[in-house]
Amino acid sequence: MKKRLFFGRVKSRKLSSSNILLTNNFLKKFIIKKNIFRKKKIVIEIGHGMGENLLNLADKNKEKIFIGIDPFQNGLANIAKEVFKKKIKNIYIFPYVLEKFFDKYNKIEFNEIYVLFPDPWPKKKHKKRRLVNENLLTNILSKLRKKGKFFFRTDNLEYYNNVIKIIKKLIREEKKYILKKYISKSLVQSKYHKKAHKFFNEIKSLELIKK
Ligand SMILES: C[S@@+](CC[C@H](N)C(=O)[O-])C[C@H]1O[C@@H](n2cnc3c(N)ncnc32)[C@H](O)[C@@H]1O
Repeated sequence: MKKRLFFGRVKSRKLSSSNILLTNNFLKKFIIKKNIFRKKKIVIEIGHGMGENLLNLADKNKEKIFIGIDPFQNGLANIAKEVFKKKIKNIYIFPYVLEKFFDKYNKIEFNEIYVLFPDPWPKKKHKKRRLVNENLLTNILSKLRKKGKFFFRTDNLEYYNNVIKIIKKLIREEKKYILKKYISKSLVQSKYHKKAHKFFNEIKSLELIKK
C-alpha cells in the first residue's frame, strides 16, 4: 500500500479565478530548472504556509535562490500575488510534499533549510503524522552544505523537546553539528507565529549548523 504523505489541507478558502490564473502564471514563470541550483546559495522552506518568511527573506537576500515546498494552494496564491507586486525574482515553488521534492532533487545540497511551525499533531495517536521525525531530520541534515544551517521553530513544547532529543543523538553519532537553542537572525512573524502569540503559547526555536 502507498504511504500517505500529507495530512493537512491543500486549500482553506476557495480561490478566485483571477487568483488561480495568477498562481498558474507564477508557476510557469518560476518553474524550477536544474540550472538554478548551479551558482547561487540555495535556501529552502518546508511548509511555508502563506509564505511570509519566504517572501521576506527573498526580498532581503536577492543574491540567494529561495524554494518554497508546500502543497497549500492559498499560500501559493498569496506568494504569487506578492512576487508580482514586489517584483521578486528569486522565489521558486515546489507545490507538492517535501518527500517528492527530495526524491526529485536527490543530489542537491542547500545552504539553509527552514521548518517553521510545522503542524503539531498534538494527539498521541497522530504523532506519526509529524513532519519532523528522526528519518526526516537525518535526511534534511544530509542535504545541508558545509556551514549550512537548519532552522526550526514551534510552539509545541513536546514536539520541540523531541526534535532536540533526536538532534542530540545525531550530534553524539556524527559530531559535525553545532546546536543553538535560538535562531540568530530576526525572522518576520508568520501566520502561525502570530497565532502562538495570540494564545500566549511559548515559542521555542533552534538553529543547527553543519561544521
Ligand atoms: C501549521 S502550517 C505553518 C505554516 C507557516 N510555516 C507558518 O509558520 O505560518 C504547516 C504547513 O506545512 C505544510 N505541510 C505539511 N506537511 C507537509 C509536507 N509533507 N511537505 C510540505 N509541506 C507540508 C502545510 O500545508 C502547512 O502549510
